[in-house]
Amino acid sequence: TIKGFAFDLDGVLADTARFHSQAWRQIAEELHIPWSEELESGIKGIDRMSSLMLILNSAGVADKYTEAEKETLATRKNDHYKELISTLTPDDVLPGMHEFLADLKANNLTMSIASASKNAPFILDKLQISDYFVGVVDPSKVKAGKPAPDIFAEAAKILDLQPEEVVGLEDSEAGITSINEAGEISVGIGDAMQLHAAKINFASTNDVNLAQIKAHLNW
Ligand code: BG6
Ligand code: MG
Repeated sequence: TIKGFAFDLDGVLADTARFHSQAWRQIAEELHIPWSEELESGIKGIDRMSSLMLILNSAGVADKYTEAEKETLATRKNDHYKELISTLTPDDVLPGMHEFLADLKANNLTMSIASASKNAPFILDKLQISDYFVGVVDPSKVKAGKPAPDIFAEAAKILDLQPEEVVGLEDSEAGITSINEAGEISVGIGDAMQLHAAKINFASTNDVNLAQIKAHLNW
């Protein structure tokens, strides 16, 4: 039976996917790299340096930059991103998620954060939802980022649960793969075609609800 939930943060709880994209887009423009739908969804879920590599590779220019230059670009993106998230308030919790968190808590289900973002603790604090979670995975302490299973596997450990007792929620393809590879139950939020590997799909955060998840899983 299900005993806990592991949450991705950006695009699942926090309305911040648009800020990641805005900050990367600015870097891409400076480098004269055209932005695309593929980049927009491709940067979701993957770590900072992997996002930069995806952008550089999309234009075939990754080897034109030294490691030091790539570090500088990634830092510049994060500085811009941090400016954008400094304005976050509890109103930036995505629609329906306040209610969903409260519902899980009322049902004694435990929760942890499985985000690739090093900014996760800051964002949770800004949104004033930190208290719902027993812990936050530190992405700098896991071997591999999403789509590898490590982040979601660690989120189950934090909950002190077996993977099959955990439901993972994600808005990215890389994240759904991570949940599935970790042996947890994947819930995709967003385009069902793109997130077809998810066990359960919801079109938007507003649609996510415990009753429907329970019904799907005969739990
Ligand atoms: C994920 C985002 O949650 O965090 C990615 O979906 C982002 O787009 C990744 O690259 C890493 O975030 P940060 O804040 O450490 O650069
Ligand atoms: Mg996400």
